[in-house]
Amino acid sequence: MRHRNLLLALLLFPLMALAAEVKSPNGNVALNFMVEEGRPVYSVTYKGKDVIRPSHLGLVLAKDKHASMGMDERDLLDDFSLDKEETSTFDETWEPVWGETKYIRNHYNEYVATLSQHWLTAPSKSNNGVRRQPRQHRRTILIRFRVYDDGIGFRYEFPQQPELNYFLIKEERSEFALTGDHKAWWLPGDYDTQEYETRTSRLSEISNFWDEIIAEGKGHASRTPFSKTGVQTSLQMKTDDGLYINIHEAACADYATMHLNLEIGNKKGEPSYTFVSWLTPDATGLKGCMQTPCETPWRTVMVSDDARDMLSNNLILNLNEPCQIEDTSWIHPTKYCGVWWEMIVGKSSWNYTDEFPSIKLDAIDWNAVKPNGRHGANNEKVKRYIDFAAANGLQQVLVEGWNVGWEDWANKWKRDVFDFVTPYPDFDIKMLNDYAHSKGIKLLMHHETSSSTQNYERHLNDAFDLMKKYGYDAVKTGYVGDIIPRGDHHYSQSMNNHYLYVVKEAAKRHIMVNAHEATRPTGLCRTWPNMVGNESARGGENEAFYTNHPDHTCILPFTRLQGGPMDYTPGVLETDLSTWSDNPHQVGSTLVGQLALYVTMYSPLQMAADLPENYAKYMDAFQFIRDVACDWDDSKYLEAEPGDYITVARKAKGTDNWFVGGKCDENGHQSNLKLDFLDEGVPYACTIYADAKNAHWQGNAKAYTITKKTVKKGDVLKLREAPGGGFAISLIKR
Ligand code: NOJ
Ligand code: CA
Repeated sequence: MRHRNLLLALLLFPLMALAAEVKSPNGNVALNFMVEEGRPVYSVTYKGKDVIRPSHLGLVLAKDKHASMGMDERDLLDDFSLDKEETSTFDETWEPVWGETKYIRNHYNEYVATLSQHWLTAPSKSNNGVRRQPRQHRRTILIRFRVYDDGIGFRYEFPQQPELNYFLIKEERSEFALTGDHKAWWLPGDYDTQEYETRTSRLSEISNFWDEIIAEGKGHASRTPFSKTGVQTSLQMKTDDGLYINIHEAACADYATMHLNLEIGNKKGEPSYTFVSWLTPDATGLKGCMQTPCETPWRTVMVSDDARDMLSNNLILNLNEPCQIEDTSWIHPTKYCGVWWEMIVGKSSWNYTDEFPSIKLDAIDWNAVKPNGRHGANNEKVKRYIDFAAANGLQQVLVEGWNVGWEDWANKWKRDVFDFVTPYPDFDIKMLNDYAHSKGIKLLMHHETSSSTQNYERHLNDAFDLMKKYGYDAVKTGYVGDIIPRGDHHYSQSMNNHYLYVVKEAAKRHIMVNAHEATRPTGLCRTWPNMVGNESARGGENEAFYTNHPDHTCILPFTRLQGGPMDYTPGVLETDLSTWSDNPHQVGSTLVGQLALYVTMYSPLQMAADLPENYAKYMDAFQFIRDVACDWDDSKYLEAEPGDYITVARKAKGTDNWFVGGKCDENGHQSNLKLDFLDEGVPYACTIYADAKNAHWQGNAKAYTITKKTVKKGDVLKLREAPGGGFAISLIKR
């Protein structure tokens, strides 16, 4: 018997020697890695509980269509041996240009596995009949893991080498084997839109939504769902025993955006649930076109038994490269308003004329056409918005529809759709910028590309030159409709390269970028902090088309906001759109809920989305939007549960003042807010914007109270959030 055990131990020894365990600095998270039957396998635990069960890693390569291209084609999936293992520790504190906190600690233990593939090619005859000898081949890749106290990241690295030089990716096969049928907050996997409503279900139920998702066509100008079990990242899950798990990616550059496809299997009679990476293809169907040395983005798994850690987590920013912009003094958080909501709601138009069924930019004398009388971006109105911004502490005014081309801009697959430099006749670009500057305001440029990316790249220099000439320092871009080059998708490697190209070109000219409809962020704003915003999810504008369900903004911070800030465009205080337009929709929150979003939805770019005339009706509530900061020295997540409620307190940058926001879903929420984050022994002037007792997002959204009192550290505020409501508090140190 003893001998048998010894024999077993000896037999197992070589296998065990290939396994490594690396723990996070505080030991809560542990990563295991091994090469099993030639395949890389990893698993993750949190406080000893399984989070990711043993899961394979690797990539399937595409065959080279033109043999002459000399691509390396052998899959990077199996036949690996583990050549080398290295571990190290990293601990650094860095200061973001803007952010939720003044400093961010990046503390992890790293494990790098160097893997090699060896194979023998059979003897063969070359074209000229010469016999080729059997040949031994060898290829090396690295898999780098970083283990944090609140999750892990890993990526594949491909050193330059004779046998791995250029290669094409057919699919990445990174597995995430889960421990059960978790609850998930998910968006349908789609190559072209992220503007879905989040679905909340068990993993096993995801495919049941397929027919509903397919039928949901309307409203998505471009969309390509690809699998009944496909979902987008960032994917938030919760296990039955209370673990919060989030899967996303970090630093997605020169690579396709990752989706996840659920594979339901069977392990010992029990269903098993494994997500497998599913990249976005380009117009040719390829998912990656690589040249070594190169690497993939980081694949991230965040985990905690406390939902608040999902929100305070900095793992994704930390996995991105440090800032590449030397002088960042021109990058600034911004509160803005804009000639915008009235177009979204349908009261005024982006286009100047209704005369033509279609237009060719160089064939129209704009001064001779008949105006439609509804053009939003006109001199008089823009001046009114500038006055409003100047009077209310906002820094910029976005003006959409200022430039020619809006007559047939959307969904035509039209190449020469805008030139980005020619204003409509009623938009005097010089006068308006001079007027704005005289009041300390800047205009915020708008470049809708209609997804005609070649057209945009062609005009980019001139467009940015025009901005610099008139003193703009920020641009909102947009990618509505199917992509040109035709057949390409919004989240492919080539499109991701386009978005980053625009950000880098903008940085050279000290221009900040806020891209709508572009790929979901993955923390690249650490490296390129002039990327101050993105939409990349269902934004506030959708209130004008559908109504965003109250739980929407209690989910986004767990999902979409993981990779970077969102230009959500909150602040619609006139929640009943029919009071001032023909639009029948109601906003999916109370008025006070809209105020809370300035704190709960972190962004260095915050819009006051409503019209000046609507704010005039609620000036006492609007005061919070005037006061609230959009850059912070500290943030404390006080309460959180995905889809239910979020409460956060933030300390305004360079001050001793705090702002607190609470937002809840349709069920309402009771918050007992302990003010233990305030400074000891100092009084604070506290203004509480709360839902009135009878407030309700459906039917009584605009009922609110404003209470002022003096408070100190340790006081407790009892706050009731109405169904679909919230609260907003300012605390000004005396
Ligand atoms: C969609 C954007 O999300 C929206 O904000 C913008 O007004 C329109 N496109 C037009 O560019
Ligand atoms: Ca949009």
